[in-house]
Amino acid sequence: MTQIELCAPCGFALEAVVSREVKSLGFEVSKVEDGRVYFLSDEYGIAKANLWLRTADRVLLKIGEFYATSFEELFENTKSLPWDDWIPKVGSFPAAKASSVRSKLFSTSDIQSIVKKAVVEKLKSKYKVNWFSESGPTYPIHILIFKDKVTLYLDTSGTALHKRGYREIGSAAPIKETLAAALVSLTPWKEGRLLVDPFCGSGTILIEAALKGLNIAPGLNRNFVSEKWLRVPEKLWNKARQEAQESIKYDNDIRLQGYDIDEKVIKIARSNAEKAGVSKYIHFQQRDVRDFSSKEKYGFIVTNPPYGERLEDLKTVEQLYRDMGKVFSKLDTWSFYILTTHEGFERFFGRKADKKRKLYNGMIKTDLYQYLGPKPPKINTVE
Ligand SMILES: C[S@@+](CC[C@H](N)C(=O)[O-])C[C@H]1O[C@@H](n2cnc3c(N)ncnc32)[C@H](O)[C@@H]1O
Repeated sequence: MTQIELCAPCGFALEAVVSREVKSLGFEVSKVEDGRVYFLSDEYGIAKANLWLRTADRVLLKIGEFYATSFEELFENTKSLPWDDWIPKVGSFPAAKASSVRSKLFSTSDIQSIVKKAVVEKLKSKYKVNWFSESGPTYPIHILIFKDKVTLYLDTSGTALHKRGYREIGSAAPIKETLAAALVSLTPWKEGRLLVDPFCGSGTILIEAALKGLNIAPGLNRNFVSEKWLRVPEKLWNKARQEAQESIKYDNDIRLQGYDIDEKVIKIARSNAEKAGVSKYIHFQQRDVRDFSSKEKYGFIVTNPPYGERLEDLKTVEQLYRDMGKVFSKLDTWSFYILTTHEGFERFFGRKADKKRKLYNGMIKTDLYQYLGPKPPKINTVE
């Protein structure tokens, strides 16, 4: 096995969360940039990172980087990289994705076609052929140009990592699985403590909490493009899958409750939890947040209530936040983590957050309002 550098792109403001995850999997973080965490690995790490990363968008294999301000420089430098280390003669290698920010070269379609041509030329000279059938495994090329620095990758994930495979049908405004997992990671919630999402929609936050609480690798029920790659053979994937399977802690004391005013989305949430294999750990029920109460102490509410995107909805949403404030004020030992785009949230909720953290739900800027409850008393056991 050889040392390689992998890159986990992620939502802006999630770099610290992803870095923590990468380190907890045993990898060494080599660099952190806006929306990207780089780490050192070997071929086995490709399987492990894809199976386990909860909050990253995908796992990219870095092939090389250089500066280019002309198409000629882009072509020559791309051609000089060791593409043949990874792409075999029958491999298919689409220039799948390009982005260019604050750079001289900005036409992404031209960038993609120059990179493709350069890789073809490189492989022609290596394999001594003039034509590629591209009938074998796929090696999608990703291109990032930032301030004229070009970084070239092969995408090892294929379908993005947020597609875990449990959410085939969704409610109107589901949160991305990776962001839901990040919300849970940003709280000190752990097994034995109650976590409630009173606006659970399709159940994403609770399903991600269950996967984390039971130590289930989120990618266990899906496939990745690099499963067909020669350098990441089936036996590595089998080993990584078996290790993940053996790490599951089905006996953990996982206590999760999801409520929503809409009976239809509760049905969807139940079916999603079923598909994710965690339905017996989550209690779902149709209920208006105004009717929520609990005798439990030291619970967590982690939720994204309606934002009121359309102007006519704003008044309704503001009244809802006022009502939430009243209902939650009775839960005086609980912690609340509330994600919304509404900048006046604290005013309507009636309490200033202890902490506020900017997060992106796709391209939408949101804030996570954090209200931190007291820690439960330590139980002293006498022998
Ligand atoms: C932004 S969505 C939550 C999406 C969810 N996190 C998911 O992943 O699908 C807000 C949810 O709040 C629900 N809702 C609206 N008003 C409510 C109320 N008064 N009580 C409880 N749920 C309500 C809606 O039905 C909707 O499913």
